Amino acid sequence: MSQRTQQKTPLYGRLLVRLAKPFPNFDFYFIKPIRRRAIESMLLTIGCKVLDVGCGPGGSFPFLVDAVGPAGKVVGIEISPLHAEMANDRIRANDWTNVEVVNESAKDAELNDRFDGLLMFAAPDVYGSPAELANLIPHLTDDARFAAFGAKLASVGFGRMLNPIIKTLYKLSFDTTPAPSIEPWQPLTADFEILEIHEYFFGLMFLVTGKRSIWPTPVPSHDAATSGTSMSRSIRSD
Ligand SMILES: C[S@@+](CC[C@H](N)C(=O)[O-])C[C@H]1O[C@@H](n2cnc3c(N)ncnc32)[C@H](O)[C@@H]1O
Repeated sequence: MSQRTQQKTPLYGRLLVRLAKPFPNFDFYFIKPIRRRAIESMLLTIGCKVLDVGCGPGGSFPFLVDAVGPAGKVVGIEISPLHAEMANDRIRANDWTNVEVVNESAKDAELNDRFDGLLMFAAPDVYGSPAELANLIPHLTDDARFAAFGAKLASVGFGRMLNPIIKTLYKLSFDTTPAPSIEPWQPLTADFEILEIHEYFFGLMFLVTGKRSIWPTPVPSHDAATSGTSMSRSIRSD
């Protein structure tokens, strides 16, 4: 493996490649319902174009392809050459002609299209980074929806006792990966209206969905601000 490939592939990703490379359609069984829910929340219809940023080996591609149909388009952006290669293996194994992978960071990817949806599934380097988001947002349609899934720290209960595990797992990522926090989706609130937040696994995982806000976001009322929720979003635990 070249030094460049190694630098651009997080440690957990190098381990995953060893396990999953021979299986182009590999995905973790328990994650599929969350992928489905994330993609349904983007309200994609036949013919839509969608970005899957930090697409990894393309675990979300089957759901995105189903949502946009053959007339639509799925563009994955993936910084790791190893993961981009696995995503391309998946594309070939499924004969998809409307899916492509850009092997670049979200910050540096050159996009020349506008997209109706932005998926950031298990991609904290993207949803947690204003610099990466800044390159993507101009390429979204005005009414584009987004979904972000990832790990978080729990603020209450049993989950709080497990926070050190999340912090340790993050050490397997890039040095630049934003540290986990209680609301890792905060960088998204500058450009998106958060519509729903679901928590999973004792509050250690989240799925946040919403839409692009091209107008200033309404200032939360005093009650909403002190309870930690904005006017337009609801928090659910599953
Ligand atoms: C945990 S994996 C998730 C992969 C995939 N979304 C999934 O659901 O299976 C996160 C992926 O984001 C990629 N990544 C990290 N930083 C990135 C960046 N700045 N731009 C694009 N991809 C990035 C990593 O290489 C890795 O493949």
